[in-house]
Amino acid sequence: KKGEAWSARFSEPVSDLVKRYTASVFFDNRMAGADIQGSLAHAEMLAHQGIISQQDYAEIQRGMAQIQSEIASGQFEWLLDLEDVHLNIEKRLTELVGDAGKRLHTGRSRNDQVATDIRLYMRAAIDDISGLLRDLRLALVDLAEKNADTILPGFTHMQVAQPITFGHHMLAYVEMFGRDAERMADCRKRINRLPLGAAALAGTTFPIDRQRVARTLGFDDVCHNSLDAVSDRDFAIEFCAAAALVMTHISRMSEELVIWMSPRVGFIDIADRFCTGSSIMPQKKNPDVPELARGKTGRVNGHLIGLLTLMKGQPLAYNKDNQEDKEPLFDTVDTVTDTLRIFADMARGITVKPEAMRAAALQGYATATDLADYLVKKGLPFRDAHEAVAHAVRTCEQRGCDLTDLTLDEMRAYSPLIEADVFSVLTLEGSVAARNHIGGTAPEQVRAAITRVRAQLA
Ligand code: ARG
Repeated sequence: KKGEAWSARFSEPVSDLVKRYTASVFFDNRMAGADIQGSLAHAEMLAHQGIISQQDYAEIQRGMAQIQSEIASGQFEWLLDLEDVHLNIEKRLTELVGDAGKRLHTGRSRNDQVATDIRLYMRAAIDDISGLLRDLRLALVDLAEKNADTILPGFTHMQVAQPITFGHHMLAYVEMFGRDAERMADCRKRINRLPLGAAALAGTTFPIDRQRVARTLGFDDVCHNSLDAVSDRDFAIEFCAAAALVMTHISRMSEELVIWMSPRVGFIDIADRFCTGSSIMPQKKNPDVPELARGKTGRVNGHLIGLLTLMKGQPLAYNKDNQEDKEPLFDTVDTVTDTLRIFADMARGITVKPEAMRAAALQGYATATDLADYLVKKGLPFRDAHEAVAHAVRTCEQRGCDLTDLTLDEMRAYSPLIEADVFSVLTLEGSVAARNHIGGTAPEQVRAAITRVRAQLA
């Protein structure tokens, strides 16, 4: 009489409001592909074990193929009355193939079914994201290579600190996104376990072969406790944590891009296709993409907290609360995927302005540390060298000049150890080239790092 798969137990239908409130089909139908894949693997195992007939399995395959093409062509009719993606597909299967469709759910529950679907969906999402992280890293490595010798000021506390190369700066992000890729790969290991077979919570009375289903679906192993298999979503939380870190790195980079593109700084330009104008100020070109990415980081962070909060109060085993895992999870996948794709493209649309970077590096006594190091190499203890240079900087500050504007005699007033060779030490090129060890900013090291990363990504 009624549409619900469990309706015989009930004496009245649920209200329309409750239907709408409890239904997930309009967002979980994006897992349809995973749901069908999981059902086919389950049915194959049921047939192999003699729990259903080979004839039933053949019918299920035929019906699922039809459903797949209906979904692909947009003809499949998703019904709110059927609550979620699982019941919608099962109902249509039964319409198409009759009793074989009704036998599919033998030894299975939506609880282990949905957990399996999420894992299949996430595994694919992680593979996409890993590919995009790789592409972004390649784009940044290219930018680093073109700018292995480009000098800009490095900052601490947003104050000019020491000269660095733009290539080195880009490679810092390459490292961050590399760790993000590692985290995704690590998270994938724990996702790649099969919940099916856990059934509702305790397992099933049928002689199932879980390892067989795991193999069919490409899982490394089965989940070893049925209660845990249907109820925990720690893998989704872990993914969101990794995603939040991806976005955090994107956001830090965005902040820099916005600052660098400000006319007051003018270190870079971003291709027009990533910027927008103003409806009132005709002169404006705004870095909307990095700004929006910085903003979207907030929603991904929010999803992480949302999922942690969703999980924290749930007793074992499955609770309907878990249906709330999907929208944050899907939105995280969408946000990270789109953001990475756009950033790889945008990295290729960045124009570097070396003159502006250089001019900025020449202000702020960026090579003061080099002068101190120079004195140390001549035998002065570092703390004394630091003090001597601080006095020199103070004089320059008062006169409004640079360290290189002092004459040799003037400099020797701060330390008699200073000789004519000091001037090469004070140049920007000399400063960066001198930091020539693994992890240092020297152009030679930047090139070596690029070779290393390229080999890793090959
Ligand atoms: N739509 C549900 C979810 O997303 C599927 C599992 C429902 N199971 C149940 N017994 N109500 O979690």
